[in-house]
Parts: sequence; structure tokens; C-alpha cells
Amino acid sequence: MQNQSLLECKGLTKRFGGVHAVKEVDIKIQAGMRMGIIGPNGAGKTTLFNMFTGEIKPSAGAIYFKGHAIHGMKPHFISKMGIGRTFQIVRVFDELSVYENVLIGAVAKNFHFKPTREQHDAVRRILSLTKLDSQKDVMAKHLTVAKKKHVGLAIALVGNPQLLLLDECMAGLTFVETDEMIEFLHKINTDMGITLVVVEHVMKVVMELCENIVVIASGEKIAEGSPKDIVSNPHVVDVYLGES
Ligand SMILES: Nc1ncnc2c1ncn2[C@@H]1O[C@H](COP(=O)(O)OP(=O)(O)OP(=O)(O)O)[C@@H](O)[C@H]1O
Ligand SMILES: [Mg+2]
Repeated sequence: MQNQSLLECKGLTKRFGGVHAVKEVDIKIQAGMRMGIIGPNGAGKTTLFNMFTGEIKPSAGAIYFKGHAIHGMKPHFISKMGIGRTFQIVRVFDELSVYENVLIGAVAKNFHFKPTREQHDAVRRILSLTKLDSQKDVMAKHLTVAKKKHVGLAIALVGNPQLLLLDECMAGLTFVETDEMIEFLHKINTDMGITLVVVEHVMKVVMELCENIVVIASGEKIAEGSPKDIVSNPHVVDVYLGES
């Protein structure tokens, strides 16, 4: 057991040929928290998520979830253990309805594609929670990018995750939609106890939502602290935030 962290990575490293995408990153995420990961384009944020969820194998280092080593495990095992995610480039089945997309999320933990009554109930509950119920019969290809992102969130939530990794889920949303999403994420964190890690370029989101922020630049963790500490950290201002 590594301590009380829900997720912890130590010395996490990923090389793609000559590209050192993530370099010896240590992060501890406590259960119940709302953490932000920020940094310039190409810093390695999505690569971190891809290692946490098993989509890519680390070149070196370790990842522990609830005290169990998960580095090297397949994505569906990690998902079953309680890590859900959304994707920076939204992934939904365009030719299926919103309901069917979320149902696929619900049956992903089955050995067969035969939804149970409880799984149908879970889909309806999540569609209501994510305010997608009025569009449940709409084919995903007819949705806006913002709505597709909601479907991606619903797919992740119907898997009942303890830890939810959100990769730029606010990109492309209007101000009003962004405020609604921040409120929604607060709600699922406090009411459902879901631990959140958000990768975001929209600083308003990180500042309003997150209790703790990790800053990644060129694959390395360069700072960690409260939003207030991070915005006044000269190194972070220099490499990412800028003076304004
Ligand atoms: N599958 C891959 N093969 C080769 N290089 C990759 C691969 N995935 C990512 N990279 C490289 O690794 C680095 C980190 O990329 P990553 O997508 O993790 O950055 P990011 O912080 O998520 O950036 P953004 O904010 O633009 O989404 C970049 O140099 C990227 O080009
Ligand atoms: Mg990314």
C-alpha cells in the first residue's frame, strides 16, 4: 500500500522514439479531491491520462490505484477498477443514438452485450443527470461538439467511476455552458463522491473548480499547489500563463 492516495504515480515516464513526452512525474491524488493539470500544448498531459487508463504503457515508473499497481494493465481492467475518462477528441458512435451510446458504456463491464434492467435504469438516470434525456433518441452525428462531449461524459459516468479523468471537456463550450459544466462537476464531486482530475487550458475552470493544480511543461512537473499559489508562481507565469 502506497499510503492513502486514490491514484499515485512515481517516476512516470513515456518516450515515443526520440520524443520524451513525460519525464519522471510524481503525482498523488487523494480520494474526493478536484485536481487540475495544466501546461502548454504538447506538455504531456494527455499522455499522462493515457498511461493512467492503460491505453499506453509507461516506458518507466509506476502507477498505483487504490494501492494496486496498474501500470501495464489493460484499459478494460483499469476501467473496471474504477477509473473513467473522457477524451480530448470526442469519441462517440456517430451512427448510434445518444441512449445507445451511453448503453454501450453501461455494458462495457459485461462479458456479453446483453443489457440488464439495472443497466437500462442506470442509463436513464445518467441521461437525466447530464440533461441529455430530451435528446436520447437523436443520432450522435447530429449533435454539436459540445453535446457530444456531454455524451462522452455520460458514457464515463454510467461506468460508475471513483476517479474521473476529464481531458479538455470544456473546450468549445460557451461561457454559459462552461459555468453549467463547472457547477455539474462540483455536484458530481460532492454528491457522488467522484474524484476529479481535469486537464484544461481554460483557466477560469481550473481556478473555480480545482483545489490543487499540477503544472506540466515539456513532460516535467514544474509546480504543484493551490490555484492562488500557481497563478503567482513566476516559473509557471513564465512558461505557461504569461503576465496577463
Ligand atoms: N502516439 C504518439 N506518438 C508519438 N508522439 C506522441 C504520441 N502521443 C503524443 N506524442 C507527443 O508527446 C508529446 C506530448 O503530447 P500530449 O498529447 O500528451 O500533450 P498535451 O499536453 O496533451 O498537449 P495539448 O494541450 O495540445 O493537448 C508531444 O510532443 C506529442 O507530439
Ligand atoms: Mg492533450
